[in-house]
Amino acid sequence: MTEEGHKKLDWAAAHMPVLQSLKPILIESGAMKDKKISMALHVEAKTGVLALTLQEAGAKVSITSCNPLSTDDDVANALREKGMDCRAACNQCNEDYYAALNGVLDHGPDFIIDDGCDLIKLLHTTRTDLMGNVIGGNEETTTGIVRLKSMEREKVLKFPVFNVNDAYMKHLFDNRYGTGQSTFDGIMTATNLVVAGKVFVVAGYGWCGRGIAMRAKGMGANVVVTEIDPVKAIEATMDGFRVMQMDDAVEIADFIVTATGNCDVVAQHHYPMMKDGCVLANSGHFDNEIDKNALSSMAQSEFDARYNVKGYKMLDGRTIYLLADGRLVNLASGQGHPAEIMDLSFSIQALCADYLLNNPDMMPGVHGVPDEIDLFVAKRKLELSGVKIDKLTPKQEEYMSGWKEGT
Ligand code: ADE
Repeated sequence: MTEEGHKKLDWAAAHMPVLQSLKPILIESGAMKDKKISMALHVEAKTGVLALTLQEAGAKVSITSCNPLSTDDDVANALREKGMDCRAACNQCNEDYYAALNGVLDHGPDFIIDDGCDLIKLLHTTRTDLMGNVIGGNEETTTGIVRLKSMEREKVLKFPVFNVNDAYMKHLFDNRYGTGQSTFDGIMTATNLVVAGKVFVVAGYGWCGRGIAMRAKGMGANVVVTEIDPVKAIEATMDGFRVMQMDDAVEIADFIVTATGNCDVVAQHHYPMMKDGCVLANSGHFDNEIDKNALSSMAQSEFDARYNVKGYKMLDGRTIYLLADGRLVNLASGQGHPAEIMDLSFSIQALCADYLLNNPDMMPGVHGVPDEIDLFVAKRKLELSGVKIDKLTPKQEEYMSGWKEGT
């Protein structure tokens, strides 16, 4: 319902004070005035607030989703009612999903805001005709950055892109606390099952995996981590988690959540080893972390156990459950990250767009977010939260910048 979408946008906006406070800065900068911005992000309330902020700063925004299942249709309708070109819809088939991505590119963008690199990939493959206009872009997520760095290595990336994901004010909070909380929002909404006392396997101990494991532990789960990186594996053990190989973890798991950014993390040979009732969910960007095709081909039958819970009846009588068709569980089944978290990520997005449009001569490639933007957002968040921190005295500043004082 459109009415409901407006309420969701208002609620999110009221809990995104940093982004709200940027409006006068963006308007005064003027960099967005009449610029065409094409966006592929999860179209839900917080994203809507970002898109409206850019629109208020003078940009002409065209937006669609970066995932066929993550759109909040109420919000998408409300955005359309506010005059935005919004092509997102929940439950798009592959063809409609790509038609929508191409639709936002037909806008002829000066700037791209991507989450997962699908738009930028299209521009560099089937839509190269539009490349000439593009001044640059932003990428929101780890998976998109992996693809962009691969494009950069192969020297095919044709414009500058800010690596929003690696800004401290993004990944420390969004990937860790955002994914930590919203993954459980998705799992709870889908299953209504208890986590306490269960064996909860987290695949991947990056910032997202750390957040999921931390929250699972807080809820009383017996948490197991799987990793391929020796350093992260040691970190997980020192954080108090059991670390084991997936081949062993699947045998004891009640829940398995993937957050690796890689494919086939839960693979064909794992299914025969799983306990009856094991629940599988994915919190990584793409739906290939859990090999759902193999699961489907091995199952005797499939059934909808609940909304967003598919049951796979195996030949030996066990049932394995897959949430949200293996797509990002926090958005396909939950409401995405909390508004206060997306406030930080999307403030970085808005300031990076403003910076790049003000500096159109940046070299093609993947660029780190300037420290001044990270610090600005951190300071603004503290100010708006009423939290004061200490300042270095002149003596301390001198001490920290010298090298002659010792024992
Ligand atoms: N809401 C909007 N974008 C999101 C993202 N990338 N992750 C989680 N929630 C979101």
